[in-house]
Amino acid sequence: MTSHRKICVIGLGYIGLPTAALLANRGYEVYGVDIVQSTVDVINEGKIHIIEPELDTFVKSAVNSGKLKADLKPVEADIYIIAVPTPFHEGFIPNVDYVLSATRSIASYVKENDIIILESTSPVGTTEKVKEVLEQNGVDTSKLSIAYCPERVLPGQIMRELVENDRIVGGITSEATHKAVEFYKTFVSGEVLSTDARTAEMAKLTENSFRDTNIAFANELSILCDKFDIDVWELIKLTNRHPRVNVLQPGAGVGGHCIAVDPWFIVNAGGDDAKIIRTAREVNTYKTEWVIEKIKNEALKFKVKNGRKAKVVCMGLAFKPNIDDLRESPALYIAQRLTKELENIYCVEPNIKTLPKNSQFSILNSQLITTDEAIKKADLVVFLVAHNEFKDLNIKTNLDFCGVTR
Ligand SMILES: NC(=O)c1ccc[n+]([C@@H]2O[C@H](COP(=O)([O-])OP(=O)(O)OC[C@H]3O[C@@H](n4cnc5c(N)ncnc54)[C@H](O)[C@@H]3O)[C@@H](O)[C@H]2O)c1
Repeated sequence: MTSHRKICVIGLGYIGLPTAALLANRGYEVYGVDIVQSTVDVINEGKIHIIEPELDTFVKSAVNSGKLKADLKPVEADIYIIAVPTPFHEGFIPNVDYVLSATRSIASYVKENDIIILESTSPVGTTEKVKEVLEQNGVDTSKLSIAYCPERVLPGQIMRELVENDRIVGGITSEATHKAVEFYKTFVSGEVLSTDARTAEMAKLTENSFRDTNIAFANELSILCDKFDIDVWELIKLTNRHPRVNVLQPGAGVGGHCIAVDPWFIVNAGGDDAKIIRTAREVNTYKTEWVIEKIKNEALKFKVKNGRKAKVVCMGLAFKPNIDDLRESPALYIAQRLTKELENIYCVEPNIKTLPKNSQFSILNSQLITTDEAIKKADLVVFLVAHNEFKDLNIKTNLDFCGVTR
């Protein structure tokens, strides 16, 4: 492995930049590539364009030591790591365009014995497509090691988990698997597990679908318990005393760019055979609509009783507790829908000062208030995200969809 010292990381976002900075701090000569000029510029100044604890220290020391350089174009290297986005198109069709264009961008640089690793969460068969695209661009892939290695880090703990988590590595050939495993072993303290590329791709999708399905079970229970006039939080606490039962907590839906997205990659390819995974997605999406209807009904009851429209405060906008990430957030979606359909909607999000300007949700900025203001102003308090700041509030709770007041 000592001959493989030069690494090119394609895509410098939440996964690519921490990976590049870690490898540079471990002595590799790392070239980071991104298509966004401002991202490249910020990194070359030793600074970061995303929020992640400890990342700034890693990037600063990597750039200062000359081991990390960013650019818009790839360079010749020994190992290429692709960590670009894999969203979906309209209709939940997986979009691997970024992976394919990143692959095309390295085609003229790869040479015999290089290792090419795809880390983006991808539909089964994408690593084979990487090989095909290289071949279509004139590359002889017979002497290359092409492998898939999914990332499973938790935002907020990425620098630690990049090293400590177990990794799954699956090559197109067993030699590719072996070479990629040897590479990960140079910086991962967790176990590095070998398989083939298709199994590794499916493993990542399975992990996120498992979470989605289990949350869907809890969300369905919460709707049923509401119908049966049972406190779902007490119910779950009691059932979890069974030694082999562990029901998760319900919420306002499921968000984030992983769990709410990746199961569709299985459903899209699995068709009618992906019954539970599809239904789980639908249940979690339905839960968000159900929450909106509940809030609207409560607001209507207030109006009938008091002769005026309720001032509604949505507590939390992020997609899960104690973060500022709004991607695919059900709470944000609920606040947006209520703003369109009702009046006097306010939001509290202790992890965000202002919402990004020119974004589809910057309109909510004028409705952002503090928790203290919410306590004074609100007729209807709706807890959507179980942030720590909301735990011991002396507020008369009207609706708690995340169990934070329990
Ligand atoms: N963020 C996470 O917590 C996490 C966890 C596990 C897996 N993943 C997966 O990792 C992949 C990357 O996710 P992310 O969160 O880092 O995304 P991101 O959006 O933060 O970063 C991706 C970067 O790739 C760049 N890019 C796009 N096309 C490019 C190209 N052709 N060449 C060079 N750069 C290009 C973008 O400009 C962006 O900076 C996705 O498949 C995601 O599902 C993410």
